[in-house]
Amino acid sequence: MLSQEYINEVKEKNDITDVIGGYVTLKRSGRISKGLCPFHSEKTPSFTVYGDTASFYCFGCQAGGDVIGFIRRIENLDYVEAVKFLASRAGMAMPEESKNDGLSRMRMRIREQNREAGRFFYRSLYSPMGKNALEYFHSRGLTDETIRRFGLGWSPDGWDLLVRHLTEKGYKREEILAADLGYSARNNGIIDRFRNRVMFPIIDLQGNVVAFGGRKFTEDAVGGKYVNTSDTLIYKKTNNLFAMNIAKNSKSRDLILCEGYMDVIALHQAGFDNAVAALGTAVTPQQARILHKYADRVILSQDGDEAGQKSIARSIPIMKEEGLDVKVVEITGAKDPDEFIRKFGPERFKMLLDGSFNDMEYSLMRIEQKYNISTDDGRLHYLREVCEYLGGIGNLEREIYASRVADKLKIEKSAVINQANASARRKNKLEKDKSFREMANKTAGIGNKINPERSSNLRASNAEYALLALLFNHQDIIAKAAQILPPEQFVTDFGRRIYSQFIEINKSGYQVNVTLLAENFSETETSEIVRIINSDKPRGIDDFDDLVDLIKSERFIPKPQDASKLTSDELLNQMSLLKKKKT
Ligand code: CTP
Ligand code: MN
Repeated sequence: MLSQEYINEVKEKNDITDVIGGYVTLKRSGRISKGLCPFHSEKTPSFTVYGDTASFYCFGCQAGGDVIGFIRRIENLDYVEAVKFLASRAGMAMPEESKNDGLSRMRMRIREQNREAGRFFYRSLYSPMGKNALEYFHSRGLTDETIRRFGLGWSPDGWDLLVRHLTEKGYKREEILAADLGYSARNNGIIDRFRNRVMFPIIDLQGNVVAFGGRKFTEDAVGGKYVNTSDTLIYKKTNNLFAMNIAKNSKSRDLILCEGYMDVIALHQAGFDNAVAALGTAVTPQQARILHKYADRVILSQDGDEAGQKSIARSIPIMKEEGLDVKVVEITGAKDPDEFIRKFGPERFKMLLDGSFNDMEYSLMRIEQKYNISTDDGRLHYLREVCEYLGGIGNLEREIYASRVADKLKIEKSAVINQANASARRKNKLEKDKSFREMANKTAGIGNKINPERSSNLRASNAEYALLALLFNHQDIIAKAAQILPPEQFVTDFGRRIYSQFIEINKSGYQVNVTLLAENFSETETSEIVRIINSDKPRGIDDFDDLVDLIKSERFIPKPQDASKLTSDELLNQMSLLKKKKT
């Protein structure tokens, strides 16, 4: 454990506004600064840094915390690593490594095992026993140079050859299980996770082997086509991209996103050093963020089959949302990029890339393929779906593609654009209704998972939050508050838990701060606490008695009907009543 004193010093030497200012362009007004949130993509700043409470909160994605929490999120570190990161930023001596620091140590042990396993698989591939696996790679056109560059390997055909190797190297049973390199067998034994498969190591951006994919390569082998490492302390499938460690060094600001390990490797061997693969079917927002760090444009080069097309359809909006330009190549004459290159060569693939469609051209083409536009009926249905689609894209783009559609059908452009505009209006209205409904729900506390009692105790919960903010800013009266309003009298459980922590921290002589609170709350709860203590309508010390009275009296008021069961109109009614009551 790091000592409280050490953590306090780290925080004192790392002013939150300075630290965050290194990642986000902040506009200061007084002790509050605002900027574009680094944790989700947005166009108007809702990311706020509060100098006074040494905390940050984003009103767009509800991320919040202290300077350590910020570094954890943005650098993807655990708690101790984040503290060390900040200590070194401030030029402080590193804390003594202590044995209690279990998670960090386990992470290190997993990393070391993976490196060891990668070497083991590579050696096995080039051992006499690995002959068939090596032949398999060669038969798929891979050179020894490529095999070395990607660190490919073979997991030998046995029960526990790797497990025994790791055990000899001093790794304990629970460490091997935590790395997912083995799984429990009966009688306390462990069996190798990967047996008789060709191995693809997955390497993170810092160059650590973090996981493996193992492909079956003989017909008679057992199990599915692929066996993959499950998520571990150092690996999350949805946060990683295969070959990103290599592609990040490419000079190109394009990245080619494929489906499979073999596609990526074949592309690199053919000179496309900017190919990567997502490790599932569609891209996740986290992966899109990583792609955006190294590229302005992503060229989707998925398999030609229905699964590939589905994955394109799901990936496009996620990448657009992230602000990436998207292009799509259509692979024809081969099932995937790997086969395409083998059949037609790299030059032809380059031509595919150059002729790739932007996402709108791609979507229009997909719609067209669904209908036979040589019949009137087909034209009608095609037109209907196209106009619906055009309603969802930008105004300028709508103009351009409406003309193209009109030309294709040999009809007036106005017919297309009118329909498309009508669809745009409909979509806008739906969008507005939705965000209004969401706003209303939020105000009424509906769907608040962190404090589920909030919606049916809105007045009490508001008073609790206001009191907590007041106490955070006037910590000298926490002890007095504890006497006249014991925590049991709080109405909502979440409010009560925060209040109890205030009292406890205060009793032990510390200043209540986000870092100490974070120890007893989850990440999302901590974010909500940051929002609460930085209330935009802070109450003065004069309001203390009123708030206490309000909380006390609310305890005995029978609960109104559960707001989540109200209709929109009833909800609006209730809200306007509440507003009147306040004034
Ligand atoms: N995949 C997986 N588990 C499976 C099937 C696929 O994890 N059971 C992932 C792998 O990352 C794989 C990718 O999805 O690389 C694409 O699958 P597929 O096209 O079937 O495999 P390829 O690697 O392209 O294999 P090959 O070309 O040898 O058929
Ligand atoms: Mn394939």
